[in-house]
Amino acid sequence: MKAQNSHSILVLPGDGIGAEVMPHAIRVMEAAAGNRISLRLEYADFGGCSIDRHGVPMTTETLTRAQCVDAVLVGAVGGPKWDDLPVEKKPEKGLLGLRAGLDCFANLRPALTFAPLAEASTLKTELVAGLDILIVRELTGGVYFGNPRGVEVRDNLRYGFNTFGYDESEIQRVTKVAFELARKRRGKVCSVDKANVLEVTQLWRDVVKEVHSDYADVELSHMYVDNAAMQLVREPKQFDVIVTGNMFGDILSDVAAMLTGSLGMLPSASLNASSRGLYEPVHGTAPDIAGKNLANPLATILSVAMLYRYSLDAPDIADSIEAAVDRVLEHGYRTGDIMPLNPSENIVRVGTDQMTDVVIAELEAS
Ligand code: IPM
Ligand code: MG
Repeated sequence: MKAQNSHSILVLPGDGIGAEVMPHAIRVMEAAAGNRISLRLEYADFGGCSIDRHGVPMTTETLTRAQCVDAVLVGAVGGPKWDDLPVEKKPEKGLLGLRAGLDCFANLRPALTFAPLAEASTLKTELVAGLDILIVRELTGGVYFGNPRGVEVRDNLRYGFNTFGYDESEIQRVTKVAFELARKRRGKVCSVDKANVLEVTQLWRDVVKEVHSDYADVELSHMYVDNAAMQLVREPKQFDVIVTGNMFGDILSDVAAMLTGSLGMLPSASLNASSRGLYEPVHGTAPDIAGKNLANPLATILSVAMLYRYSLDAPDIADSIEAAVDRVLEHGYRTGDIMPLNPSENIVRVGTDQMTDVVIAELEAS
């Protein structure tokens, strides 16, 4: 029988700063595990580096391994080297295949402003200080996965098309996750759609209302996506949990990320029905700064915290990692992306490795 505190994790560092940051995030993961949790880490190529070595962004063997472990931790994939490949062969396709292959339909993207970073946001400090939003993005359906899709010649003109569809079960399951999570937070869900134009999101709205009848204690509102984008920068603290489809969630989560100061701070968890999860920072591979010890490791480190919380059933370890990050920021440590414009004396600019060192030092001191 498997020991309760022994867990297998597949690590897919990926490309650019994804691969650069990963060993640092693993150092934090191991430090946090201490003697209490035994981690069995496996590694595989993923994204662009997998294209280079195996001709595909994700081999079937890698997917099979991902399906057998307790959790998968991804860095980031993509880069200019692979940009001109057809969509089917791009590194991003590996990510989409992994999400779908694990059936990780609920993507949790918290946008939380750490108090010391409120000033790093491009928005006024008072708008973002204390911000704590959770975006629940549907991740395995919608226009990202709909068929038919393609580019073909029609009437002598090239024609590109995709299909934006959801069946009611896909909407129900992600909505339930959002309501359940709202119950543990401030009890509010805002469902984002474009029900004034798109039939698929009319259905989205109807189904969300139906699911709500089992969650009458949670306050439900609906918002069109264009308005939601505006409200996120106008008055972000009005939101608690936002639930939305795949593409709207992709866009809104980048907006929400910026409220917190930097995309370099945002972790995410993608869960399936059995809480096996896929964990990844929201940021990309940042090829311009990759390999220069400039990248902010905190989004991946905070993704490790989510991994402990949701897949390893160790919420206290998650809390301790998040608290360590908070203290490090409190003490003034900043990577370039979260440097204030006019840094005060206590602000120390650090690289990827030193940021990780100070997080580990805080963890070990707690
Ligand atoms: C994200 C990214 C991905 C997405 C890309 C890299 C496929 O933008 O995770 O937000 O669109 O889902
Ligand atoms: Mg995105």
